[in-house]
Amino acid sequence: MGQNTVFADDIKEVIIDEEELKQRISELGEEITAGYEEDDDIVMLCILRGAVLFMADLAREIDLPVVFDFMDVSSYGASTESSGVVRIIKDMEENIEGRHLLIVEDIIDTGRTLKHVVDMLETRDPKSIKVVTLLDKPDRRVQKEIDADFNGFEIPDKFVVGYGLDFAEKYRNLSFIGVLKEKLYI
Ligand code: XMP
Ligand code: MG
Repeated sequence: MGQNTVFADDIKEVIIDEEELKQRISELGEEITAGYEEDDDIVMLCILRGAVLFMADLAREIDLPVVFDFMDVSSYGASTESSGVVRIIKDMEENIEGRHLLIVEDIIDTGRTLKHVVDMLETRDPKSIKVVTLLDKPDRRVQKEIDADFNGFEIPDKFVVGYGLDFAEKYRNLSFIGVLKEKLYI
């Protein structure tokens, strides 16, 4: 497990290792399980592509019947900060009217992307919308009303990669969350 060393020279610091991820995701699974009734109809919506590994591991820690769905969105704007103008690349497939929607995100940064996604999905009349994010950068929040119902880790304002998160589509297959050396992204 986690033996890929191909990116070793690019990583400045590991901020959450594989064991910590596993432990916290297991706890999140328990929190989420406790947050619903046993017969709730729950759609887990993975926001592609960053949340793929998190969704896969988290789903196995949730002791409720869930349905999987996927949505791919892209935020226009400068490379380091999202604009909040979100384009749907791939919409979800399930009809969520009257059902519980659990949005699974990799990271909430300014909150603009999530705000847009939540506003749009609310118009489809789900019974509830909850958000679980693996990572949260609260210092960067612009959309103050946007918050996760379940949050894995609060992290400082540093650009992180690994465990699903990328820089220019690289580093997603690292088994930990790490900070990239500045020279690689500045
Ligand atoms: P906003 O600002 O709209 O952005 O909350 C959320 C999206 O921005 C990406 N993002 C990151 N991706 N490392 C990444 O690999 C980071 O440190 C980072 N910060 C933000 C991510 O796609 C997220 O969904
Ligand atoms: Mg990205």
